[in-house]
Amino acid sequence: MALIIIAPDTKVSSWVKHLSRLGPGIDIRVWPDTGNADDIEFALSWNHPPGEFKKYRHLKCIASLGAGIDHLLADSDLPVGVPITRVVEHSMAQSMSEYVVLAVLNYCRQFAVYRTDQSQKKWQPRIPLLAADMRIGIMGMGQLGKDAASKLITLGFPVSGWSKTPKTIEGVDCLAGAEALDDFLSQTRILICMLPLTPLTKGILSRKTFNRLPTGAYVINVARGAHLIEDDLLAALDADQLSGACLDVFKVEPLPPDHPFWEHPKITVTPHISSITFSKAVAPQIIENYRRSQSGQPLLNVVDPKRGY
Ligand code: OXD
Repeated sequence: MALIIIAPDTKVSSWVKHLSRLGPGIDIRVWPDTGNADDIEFALSWNHPPGEFKKYRHLKCIASLGAGIDHLLADSDLPVGVPITRVVEHSMAQSMSEYVVLAVLNYCRQFAVYRTDQSQKKWQPRIPLLAADMRIGIMGMGQLGKDAASKLITLGFPVSGWSKTPKTIEGVDCLAGAEALDDFLSQTRILICMLPLTPLTKGILSRKTFNRLPTGAYVINVARGAHLIEDDLLAALDADQLSGACLDVFKVEPLPPDHPFWEHPKITVTPHISSITFSKAVAPQIIENYRRSQSGQPLLNVVDPKRGY
């Protein structure tokens, strides 16, 4: 019985440290040092090589190392019937909300403009955008969306939430389904994408969506690069339909050096750091699921691969 960490582009030493501390007797292996593949019953994974799981005949759980599972579902060769879990952890919501609040306030208080002014030694106060006038529209009202909404409401922003199925969330104007999308977008001055990536949401940040927003709206994408049609964003910025965008996720990561987003004056780029998975905080739920998988108890945070989250 062994647990394997398969995360080729991630530094995994802190995961090994915290998992071993909580599960001293557990045989923890790090890919590509799999040892005997038949021992492996639990895989903790981020961006695994496609087809890899098929090598482990006794796998009882595939655990995503993050909140998203799209990196797992992108593998057309996943073993059938092995449950998939994801991370649900307060510190991830906290770090995501910090990022979202910062991006919103940076935009409303025009910090990028002051930074440029400073480089020219220019002293020029500007009128900020008032929170009360800036309705925020959050697409995706799961754990992360709800947390960000509550923090933005505290700061005085009116918030709408759009989700696939109807929700009731205190203080949020909740809209659901394709038929409500026009209404949702038409009121939104700052659009934040926090949706899971599924066939239905892929490419949702498109020309059609941007054209339904009020002129001069701002877009924040902290979900997945594939939600955004990049050329449509560039066209909407050039046409002043959008006033700017803050992007943390990209179709290709790392963002290639020659990509136009790097130098675009209306785009802020960050390297996929909005929500942080802290190994110390997340290790307990991984060990708990490892133990549950061993004793045949129901796993925590199981996702529905058909739904995509
Ligand atoms: C995640 C992420 O899914 O960081 O956890 O993108």
